[in-house]
Amino acid sequence: MAAAVEAAPGTDIQQALIERLADGRFHSGTALAAAFGLSRGAIWKRIQRLAAFGLDIERVRGRGYRLAAPLDLLAAQTLCAELAATGGIVLQSLDILPVVDSTNRWLLERAPGLPAGEAAVCLAECQTAGRGRRGRAWISPFGANLYLSVGWHLRDLPPDVGALSLVAGLAAADALEGSGFADIGLKWPNDLVHEGRKLGGVLVDLHGQPGGACRLVIGIGINVAMPAAAAGAIDQPWIDLESIGTVAAGLRNRLAARLIAALLEAVNRFVIDGFEAFLPAWERRDAVAGSAVQVSLPDQTIAGTALGVDGQGALRLCVGGEIKRCFSGEVSLRTQ
Ligand code: BTN
Repeated sequence: MAAAVEAAPGTDIQQALIERLADGRFHSGTALAAAFGLSRGAIWKRIQRLAAFGLDIERVRGRGYRLAAPLDLLAAQTLCAELAATGGIVLQSLDILPVVDSTNRWLLERAPGLPAGEAAVCLAECQTAGRGRRGRAWISPFGANLYLSVGWHLRDLPPDVGALSLVAGLAAADALEGSGFADIGLKWPNDLVHEGRKLGGVLVDLHGQPGGACRLVIGIGINVAMPAAAAGAIDQPWIDLESIGTVAAGLRNRLAARLIAALLEAVNRFVIDGFEAFLPAWERRDAVAGSAVQVSLPDQTIAGTALGVDGQGALRLCVGGEIKRCFSGEVSLRTQ
């Protein structure tokens, strides 16, 4: 497996500065300037740029700079060791980017160069244009949460491909529970929820023709410890892992490794066995089955009772005694 920490030109000092501040202690402008061979003014400018990525940095006269809370950074070496411990995972590449617009977009661009069937992984500490479903933004402040994408170049499209976001959600829920976070539910088609609030989401990007080769990228975002300053921009009830359980040091690396392993295993199984094989697991985690719901389509909203999903991953909705099937990617759903 090739592991690389990619730094865009000019960001290497930025990355080193973040690593130095990650301990949450004070670092004087003079000491930082000496360490990086820059003027104190240049350090100040770089600190301001870091603040624009969502890092909360205090500046105290006479003491210097410090992060409001220590950072538990992603580290390729740690992640590779964790992956090795999960056993038998072979990746084409693993990239950890300090800042990117969107890990899904970054991988989509690279997928055509991948050997057929081999998986590439990209994680970022911060996304400046993180994408959610239906054109929404995914709030992605620096070092706080997990932003992870896995990409493939496949020779042909798997059948029932619309069910992939459900399969990815199941894999993520298993990885979270394996890391000690209980009661993780799934709200069709792609929301990870805890007590009715959104903990994470899945975004599947698929480019290709039926019967031909395709580029597939599955992105997963998990709220780990959402800073208050970023939370204001979230437009729906949300929760993070910190509010559910203990976020110990090293958790983001361990959880990322579990997510990657679970996702690869689930996608391989899906390609062979189809979604039917995942139905019992979905039924156990279905957070809305039996509830009165409304499904928003691009041009209308349908109210009904959710009856779970079928063997293709379509939502079954009872509307006035009639059963309607809603397909992944076309609708969103909110309980009310
Ligand atoms: C949703 O629930 O609307 C889907 C959210 C998906 C967010 C993840 S974060 C990693 C990957 N990169 C993106 O730009 N989006 C996905």
